Amino acid sequence: MARFIDELKRTHHNNELRAADIGNEVVLFGWVDTRRDHGGLIFVDLRDREGITQLVFDPDLSKDAHQQAEALRSEWCIGIRGKVRSRGEQFSKKENKMISATNPNLATGEVEIEVLEATVFNKSATPPFEIVEKSETKEEIRLQYRYLDLRRKPLQDALKMRHRMNQATRNYLTSYGCLEIETPLLCKYTPGGARNFLVPSRLHHGKFYALAESPQLFKQLFMVAGYDKYFQIVRCFRDEDLRIDRQPEFTQIDIEMSFVNQDDIFKAIEGLMFAIWKEALGVDLKEFYPDGTFPRLDFYESMTKYGNDKPDLRFGLEHVDLTELVTEHDGGGIPFFEPLAKKFKDGTYRKDLPQEIIKAFVVPAKAGLSRADGDKLEKLAKSMGAGGLARAKVGASGEWTQSPLAKTVTDDMRLAINEAMGASEGDIILFQIGKTHTVHTVLANLRVHVAKKMGLIPEVGHGGNWNFSWVVDPPLFEYDDETDGWVAAHHAFTRPQDDCVDLLEKDPGLVKCYRYDLVLNGFEIAGGSIRLHDPDVQARVFKTLGIGDEDAQEKFGFLLNALRYGAPPHGGIAVGMDRVAMIMAETDSIRDVIAYPKTQKGTDQMSDAPNPVSPDQLAELRIATVQTPES
Ligand code: AMO
Repeated sequence: MARFIDELKRTHHNNELRAADIGNEVVLFGWVDTRRDHGGLIFVDLRDREGITQLVFDPDLSKDAHQQAEALRSEWCIGIRGKVRSRGEQFSKKENKMISATNPNLATGEVEIEVLEATVFNKSATPPFEIVEKSETKEEIRLQYRYLDLRRKPLQDALKMRHRMNQATRNYLTSYGCLEIETPLLCKYTPGGARNFLVPSRLHHGKFYALAESPQLFKQLFMVAGYDKYFQIVRCFRDEDLRIDRQPEFTQIDIEMSFVNQDDIFKAIEGLMFAIWKEALGVDLKEFYPDGTFPRLDFYESMTKYGNDKPDLRFGLEHVDLTELVTEHDGGGIPFFEPLAKKFKDGTYRKDLPQEIIKAFVVPAKAGLSRADGDKLEKLAKSMGAGGLARAKVGASGEWTQSPLAKTVTDDMRLAINEAMGASEGDIILFQIGKTHTVHTVLANLRVHVAKKMGLIPEVGHGGNWNFSWVVDPPLFEYDDETDGWVAAHHAFTRPQDDCVDLLEKDPGLVKCYRYDLVLNGFEIAGGSIRLHDPDVQARVFKTLGIGDEDAQEKFGFLLNALRYGAPPHGGIAVGMDRVAMIMAETDSIRDVIAYPKTQKGTDQMSDAPNPVSPDQLAELRIATVQTPES
């Protein structure tokens, strides 16, 4: 063994040798990918993170090496010294002649190594699953043996891509004038935003740190401190329910800049996305966005047309708000539309702040939605909180069939709805009425569901369709039914748009702000805002939020104090690195692009975290655990 590591140094990785190397002596290290015994000759595919090289063990060249090869099994870690030779020709039974033995699917396919000397660094236990490109093994098992899973090509490719993303980010943002500076992960707990993980302090009994959900406050303080432009590739922690695009710890490209407006931030991020796509994927986004900018979509338009603020714009299937139309028609003979129409008849319906709403969207005839499919959709809608899913199939002359609504709807209402929906023969209109939030959630999900059924969303792995959009001009406040008051839609330090400042007290619901999200193919990949640096406006925002001076000091004191010391106008954004990687890698789970992800339940299958700790450890922290029926 000492001879190999100490004397024989590795000359190449396993994706490097080409025809030009024929005749050279090489030293290679790696893992046994496959081993084939052709009686006499033994062939081994040697794998490392770069690729595969074929080895030939020939007893006539080295008896010792050949003997060792007889014992080799999958995943043994070995080293060899040998000579590069052409793969030459082999006899094809099928073609009944000698044909080239070159493997065109392998970068090293023109050559093989005749092994002169070999060593086994380490045997391997039989792996619990085969290390192959497309694994059928359950994810649970693969996560338990992640170090084996990470030997598979798709994961290696994803992590290499992330490396290139990191490099592209650092190069681009450095040339943009940003300084990469670190911020604390152990922070003061501040309310609002995501739920924090708490870390007990041993030195201060009964007190807790929060793990940073983002460096938000610290990066703003960098601006106050005059650092002008900052970035960080930073780990963030959020104790949220997990989804395919969410992990409890994830990575942001976090950015903050001084003396900028919204357009300046957009320009910086558009350039960053172009750089990342170029470096990490070899794709020039200029092909899709020739002027180097991404389109912008108004927040309200996004909610109206797609039911959320992160629409997948690779397809249409837009929603239509029918509330006004139905109100004009006094419900149009549809019994369950009438109460809402009556309520809004006196003009209390506000498009900007709808509490309840009637919306619909058309499933085109070509989707071939059967009654049974419709029932399935209804089930899905109900699982998301809908009371049901009213639907109507449009006939040749605009009549409605297959619908309980058909019996009572007035002709005027029916024709007006058909027209508003742009519905024609064979189309099916799906309706939702109720609380705005529920209607939006249900229809947004149905839109994606129907698009998938219609094949409008490219299969994972067959994409290459990058639909970026900024979502802009959202409201600063949201009305909270529970507390019967206004809450910050994002956070309390977002700057209201200049022409909305006068509305802060008068009509908070109409105040738009300089907040923005970048969406890509139905995912929010970045979000940020221009910050409030003016203490007077800040005080007015707090007032609307019902946060008193003392309260504000208690919660955000250090930031408020800092803003009093000549804070420059500033703004920023954070890009969700894992989500971007997931979309770029064309996979449908964020776990496929993270080296050691947590499961959907937030556990680490490999190390078994989270785990109980000893009573002594808890005593040191003065913490007692409480047994509940579930624990
Ligand atoms: P925000 O909370 O919008 O903004 O987060 C920014 C981006 O981070 C990604 N992201 C996540 N990715 C994986 N798992 C999660 N649990 C998760 N949560 C968020 C998303 C999101 O767009 N401090 C502000 C930024 C700013 O205002 O400058 C912030 O963190 O892609």
